[in-house]
Amino acid sequence: MNKKLLIVYHSQSGASWQLAVAARRGALLEEGVAVLWRRAWDAGVDDLVACDGLLLVAPENSASVAGAMKDFLDRTFYPALGQQLNRAYGLVIAAGNDGRNASAQVQRIMSGYPMKLVAEPLICRGEITPQHKMDCQDLGQALAAGLSLGIY
Ligand SMILES: Cc1cc2nc3c(=O)[nH]c(=O)nc-3n(C[C@H](O)[C@H](O)[C@H](O)COP(=O)(O)O)c2cc1C
Repeated sequence: MNKKLLIVYHSQSGASWQLAVAARRGALLEEGVAVLWRRAWDAGVDDLVACDGLLLVAPENSASVAGAMKDFLDRTFYPALGQQLNRAYGLVIAAGNDGRNASAQVQRIMSGYPMKLVAEPLICRGEITPQHKMDCQDLGQALAAGLSLGIY
């Protein structure tokens, strides 16, 4: 059976979207992994139940994770609690010049689901560069490979 990597993203001005697209491109390089693609506004607990691993991509806004991603986490936290999902996840934050608060905030919330962070969170600051996209592509591929090989 194919493993499923869920990418949940929010982007107001396109930066996080570019990063999520790059991560998806990397994930699709791995055979045997299906990539589920959801805007944070559209994603729900059923998507979390259906996936084997998860990648969250969102900007830092006003020193916290952007509201749409927070809304997704707020909506799914209690419904997910009873299910002990314990999925592997990765995290990408787009930021102007910081991003650390959003990264720490998401990690704190995700530990409660519980989910396990399986790669160093990426914080992509400033204009999106080819290096940012390459890093996200590598992260997407690594998550997919980990799922495919049964490491997570
Ligand atoms: C309302 C608002 C608040 C922001 N607050 C922060 C912040 O606290 N820290 C930071 O590093 N960048 C901040 N930024 C910059 C965004 O994180 C950055 O432009 C990011 O690339 C936007 O991603 P997006 O295009 O996916 O929406 C803020 C941007 C907006 C619009």
